[in-house]
Amino acid sequence: VYTIQADKIKTPIQKTMYGIFFEDINQAADGGVYAELIKNRSFEFNMPLMGWDEQKKDGGDGRLEVINRATERPENAHFIKAYVTSETGSFGLENEGFRGGTGIKEGETYSFSVMARQNDGNVKLNIELHGDNDAIIGKAELSPTDKEWNRYSVKFSSSATAKKAKVFVWLSGKGVIDLDMISMFPEHTWKNRPGGLRADLVQKLADIKPGFLRFPGGCIVEGRELNTRYQWKKSIGDIDKRTNIINRWNTEFAHRPAPDYYQTFGLGFMEYFMTAEDIGASPLPILNCGMACEFNTSEMVPLDKLDPYLQDALDLIEFANGDASTQWGKLRTDLGHPAPFNLKMIGVGNEQWGPQYIDRWKIFTKAIKAKYPDVKIVSALGPFPKGPEFDLLNKTFRSLGADILDEHYYASPKWFRDNARRYDNYDRKGPKIFAGEYAAQSVQTGSPLNKNNWECALAEAAFMTGLERNADVVNMASYAPLFAHVDGWQWTPDLIWFDNLKSYGTPSYYVQQLFSLNKGTDVVPLTLNNESVAGQEGCFATASLDKNTNELIIKFVNTGATAQPVSFKINGGAYQKKANVITLHSDRGDTENSLENPKTISPVESTMAVNGKLVNTTIEAYTVQVIRLKNK
Ligand code: AHR
Repeated sequence: VYTIQADKIKTPIQKTMYGIFFEDINQAADGGVYAELIKNRSFEFNMPLMGWDEQKKDGGDGRLEVINRATERPENAHFIKAYVTSETGSFGLENEGFRGGTGIKEGETYSFSVMARQNDGNVKLNIELHGDNDAIIGKAELSPTDKEWNRYSVKFSSSATAKKAKVFVWLSGKGVIDLDMISMFPEHTWKNRPGGLRADLVQKLADIKPGFLRFPGGCIVEGRELNTRYQWKKSIGDIDKRTNIINRWNTEFAHRPAPDYYQTFGLGFMEYFMTAEDIGASPLPILNCGMACEFNTSEMVPLDKLDPYLQDALDLIEFANGDASTQWGKLRTDLGHPAPFNLKMIGVGNEQWGPQYIDRWKIFTKAIKAKYPDVKIVSALGPFPKGPEFDLLNKTFRSLGADILDEHYYASPKWFRDNARRYDNYDRKGPKIFAGEYAAQSVQTGSPLNKNNWECALAEAAFMTGLERNADVVNMASYAPLFAHVDGWQWTPDLIWFDNLKSYGTPSYYVQQLFSLNKGTDVVPLTLNNESVAGQEGCFATASLDKNTNELIIKFVNTGATAQPVSFKINGGAYQKKANVITLHSDRGDTENSLENPKTISPVESTMAVNGKLVNTTIEAYTVQVIRLKNK
């Protein structure tokens, strides 16, 4: 018999408890949630024509020149000068899209745009979408007129769906034309914002009702070298002025034969802040602290040269929270968002370690706290939490009175089950914990064979009961990584998978969602023989009150192979006779969801008769169950 003290609040659960970790890895941004359909739209990849092919048909002829105007436009140096030399036939460009083609949906409206300048003659653009069997499934025409750079756009719809359509830009009429920023977006994006984000993917985030959104990573914050670190100031404003860089994850794990994974920053800091606001999440930006990725070059900025990095952090806080009388608050206002973003926390460095991190952390913390004493600082505790590096950081940051410590765990399902008590005996007076990156690894961390299977998700659920039970210490938690393209990933497991058209949540996604939607407001004690339930007979549990809905919420995880008859004796409260139950279950640990079967493991809702203050039930093997009891 499990005992629940529903009349004894143990600790409040922070609104931030379950959140999202976003990083542009696995094609998460470009080719993923950023809905741009043209690869290398500004010809700024290292090979400026990467993603593009010159095309000729029906006797059409001409040539393309890549022009470099770096002195004039260092942030967008290249454009294309196209010479159309034939009166008849077709000459032009084909774009390969992302991961072998462009996802096009029947009936969707597409918005094609280009920066163009007529040099000589009157060259017209004919846009064509080719679907399966090379059938034309959409077309449009544009007639640029100006001899100066101008933006031209046209909308058209598609008559068929194709996962890997081809996009052709045919040029007709003898002459010379300059082209840049060749772009195509679906009209239906998240909140229908022009040039916006893929609605199905952001909806999946919104459906978690996350408490926070951490961005932009991950290792891409650091860069392989300092030169390719994430610089937020270069990610805002006009998209043709956001300098492209090669993605830090471009060559990882050798799944990627060509260096074609870039960051265009179309999804930049303004978009991150707005998305966080849209989905009700607190923004948590992580900034580079003067250190490149310690798994790569380990480049470091000398301590006396950190000023530009510090300034970026201070300016970011002003950008998020300042009013229009401040320099950066005015910029946010000018970008269309007069209201502040209400930034309350900022990360200094991602997954750093060593004394060199501590030195830089001290300088950042002093500067940020001097100007913004209420902004909480998230401090890294390095990679997987064990060994001398973790111990040094943990001890130092505790002695320096750090606000929030970011622990990462990529480990076996067994580790997650065994560590459900990890925080039971943590220092209650020290810094708060952010379980900033975690995911159970079915094979081992870094293995491309890792699966997003039910055994892993169950183990994460078991561990999460321990996070929630210790909500006085653990204030935030996020699974990582978040997104992966089925045809272009570097890292597995991941929470949400997608192709060019569709997406699905893994079993881990539904665990995250279940915990987030059912977290309640306050933890109450749930014990077995006066002990927390963390592994006895393979069972894990936690209970909370939801003061807003006046409910008692029990979360029970049975990781074992046999069903468990359980009785909950509830002290306090008076409950209605019917409880709502939400169950995640599979008979097998190796069950996975997929694009074809996206909901093999997904929540099933039911009701259960409740006998006053004694709840008798059986929790099936391999099951996560939430029981919600409404007070009378
Ligand atoms: O989530 C993938 C990577 O794991 C992150 O970029 C990094 O912080 C960690 O090592």
